[in-house]
Amino acid sequence: MNKILVTGGLGYIGSHTVVELQQNGFEVLIVDDLSNSTLHVLDGIEAITNVRPLYEQLDLRDKKAVSNLFNTHSEIKGIIHFAASKAVGESVENPLLYYENNLNTLVYLLQECGKHRINNFIFSSSCTVYGEPDQLPITEDAPVKKATSPYGNTKQISEEILQDTCNANQLQSIALRYFNPIGAHDSLEIGELPVGVPQNLVPFITQTAAGLRKELSVFGADYHTEDGSCIRDYIHVVDLAQAHVAALQRLLNRENTDSFEVFNLGTGKGSSVFEVINTFEKVTEQKLPYKVVDRRAGDVISVYADTEKANEVLNWKSKKTLEEALRSAWQWECKVRGI
Ligand code: NAD
Ligand code: WQD
Repeated sequence: MNKILVTGGLGYIGSHTVVELQQNGFEVLIVDDLSNSTLHVLDGIEAITNVRPLYEQLDLRDKKAVSNLFNTHSEIKGIIHFAASKAVGESVENPLLYYENNLNTLVYLLQECGKHRINNFIFSSSCTVYGEPDQLPITEDAPVKKATSPYGNTKQISEEILQDTCNANQLQSIALRYFNPIGAHDSLEIGELPVGVPQNLVPFITQTAAGLRKELSVFGADYHTEDGSCIRDYIHVVDLAQAHVAALQRLLNRENTDSFEVFNLGTGKGSSVFEVINTFEKVTEQKLPYKVVDRRAGDVISVYADTEKANEVLNWKSKKTLEEALRSAWQWECKVRGI
C-alpha cells in the first residue's frame, strides 16, 4: 500500500480527501496541529471508511519536529499539503503569521522531500491567484495578478517555490487551484467547522438558518452582473477531494508531462450570491433572513473556472450540483447543532 502524508488532514478539505484516499487503497498518515480542527474528525473518517488513519499532532513550523517525522516514517510515497492558515481578513491584520505558516511549512516539507527522495507533491492552491480575471471562464494560462491579500500572496509565492524546486531537483508537483469548496460528506460524519464567525458565504448561510446569526449580509448588489451580486464557482468538497486522488495517481504513475503542473478545480458554472440564497431556500425549505450591505473590500466581481484541463488531463469532472452541495451543508449544520 502506498503511504501518503496528508498535512492538515483533519481540516475541511483534507478530511474529505483522506476519506477518498483510503477508499482508493492508500495508507494515510495525517499531520495536523489542531489549530483549526479537532480530533473528532478522526472518528468521522473512521466511521466512513472503517479505517483509522495514522495521525501525528505536530506543528509544521517546527523544523526539527518535521525532520523527526520523516526519520520515523521513511516509506512515504507522496505528500498532499493542505496545512495552512486561510482567513483572508486575518492575513491582512497579521501578515507575518501567514508568511510564516504558509511558506515556512512548505519549505521545511520540501527540504525533507529532497533528503528522503519523496518526489510526489500535491499543493492546495486557490483561484485567488488570478485576482480579477480579464476573461471568463478562467483557464490555467490566465495571468497571475498582484495578490490582494497576504493570504493570496502566500499561494502565489508557494507556486513559485514549487516551480523553482521542481526545476532544481527531482520533485514532481501539482498545484490544485480550488474555486469555492462547499458542502459536507453524504454520511454527515465530516463537514466544515469554522471557528468563530464564518467569513465564507455558505457557512454563514447555514449558521443563519440555524439561528446562530441574525441575518446574512449580502456584500453588494450593485455589481455589473445579472442580479448585481458577485459570482463564484461553488464546488462540492467531495468532488474536490476526488480530484486529489486523480492528481496523486498522475504523479505516482509518472503520467505528468511537466514537473510542475497546475489545474483549476471548479464546476465551470458561476452562481451569484442571490442564486445561492434562492437555491438554499428551495432545497432546505428554510427562509433565510438577509440584507444588502456595502461591497466587501477586495472582492472580485466574477470568477469561475474553465475546467477543461482537469477534465481532460486528470480525467476528473465535478459531478455534484449546487443543490446537493447546499443540502449537505444544511444537513451537516443541523447535525452539528442538534437540530
Ligand atoms: P482548514 O483550516 O479546515 O484545514 C487546514 C488544516 O491545517 C487544519 O486542520 C489546521 O489545524 C491545520 N494546520 C494549519 N497550520 C498548521 C501547521 N502549522 N501545522 C500543522 N497543521 C496545521 O482549511 P481547508 O478549508 O481545509 O483548506 C485546506 C487548504 O486549501 C489550505 O491550504 C487553504 O489555503 C486551501 N484553500 C482553501 C479554500 C477554501 O475555501 N476552504 C479555497 C482555496 C484553497
Ligand atoms: C463568496 C461570495 C462575497 C459572505 C474566499 C477567499 C478565497 C478562497 C475562497 C481560499 C462573495 C459573498 C460572503 C457573506 C456575502 N479561499 N458573501 N456575505 O470571497 O470567493 O473567496 O474563499 O483560498 O481566497 O477569498 O468566498 O465565501 O467569502 O464569498 O455576500 O457573509 O459571497 O462577497 O461574493 P470568496 P466567500
